[in-house]
Amino acid sequence: MRVERLVCWEAADAADPVTRAAGRLYEQTLDPDERIPWAWIERSLGRTAAPGGWQKHLLLAAPAGKEDDPGWLAGYAYGAFLPGYGGYLCYVGVAPWARRFGVGTKLFGEFFRAVRADADRLGERLPFVVWESHRPAEPMTAAERNLWAARTRLFDRVGGRWVEGVDFLSPNFAEDGGEPVPLQVLVKPVDRPLAEFTPRRLRRLVGGLHERVYRNGPGDALYDGTFPPGCRLRLVPARRAGGADRVTSR
Ligand SMILES: CC(C)(COP(=O)(O)OP(=O)(O)OC[C@H]1O[C@@H](n2cnc3c(N)ncnc32)[C@H](O)[C@@H]1OP(=O)(O)O)[C@@H](O)C(=O)NCCC(=O)NCCS
Repeated sequence: MRVERLVCWEAADAADPVTRAAGRLYEQTLDPDERIPWAWIERSLGRTAAPGGWQKHLLLAAPAGKEDDPGWLAGYAYGAFLPGYGGYLCYVGVAPWARRFGVGTKLFGEFFRAVRADADRLGERLPFVVWESHRPAEPMTAAERNLWAARTRLFDRVGGRWVEGVDFLSPNFAEDGGEPVPLQVLVKPVDRPLAEFTPRRLRRLVGGLHERVYRNGPGDALYDGTFPPGCRLRLVPARRAGGADRVTSR
């Protein structure tokens, strides 16, 4: 399969067999504590966003001519434009058979285009696109190291930078009252130049992620735990988040 033969489109119907295949792929590609229930994503499909609300997108990818065949679903990406904040990519996953063909890169690119269009339509800027990713704890198994390398290489390729200096404490979706899941935060500067992502601005951006996405604010344990005293945030190349320099052979 060649990259130029790949097609991306926006899913609008939860009952479509290809959308259902995306749900299965979602559950296979992400750990339970990293993901919300698929039903929450399904619910947003085909709906018009409330004014000021999240402009949500579920993007699917397949080889050209195979768009109607659930067996050929190559990958998905789900995220939103959050008015007054920026783009937020929640999840991306590629079917094991379709990996390393540029599907992940293509899905990121399509998502960037979708949130750019939202911002333009709403007369807003798109200062950045942000996403989080779970870095396995050390010592990593070979499989964990490979996956983390794949993630950071992909993030680098799409212009993402790692917010060094912070572990974003997110709720554990697998277990009520479970341990918080520490995530790494990645940012792609878009309308705002890289130099403007100062430590203070980055702190506002990461705090905004808590407030806008997880409904946590100062005084909440997850919010306060994300910003221990003395933490200083800065944007560095995504590969510095570890793993990408220790890639096994292709
Ligand atoms: C991470 C993932 C999305 C990558 O998708 P993909 O379609 O294989 O990525 P691409 O083909 O677009 O490759 C992008 C870059 O990553 C590199 N890469 C991909 N898989 C890799 C691997 N296993 N090891 C090392 N590098 C890898 C590619 O070589 C490319 O880098 P390069 O252009 O510098 O060579 C895919 O492995 C996946 O779905 N994993 C499970 C779910 C997941 O981790 N989702 C991300 C959550 S944040």
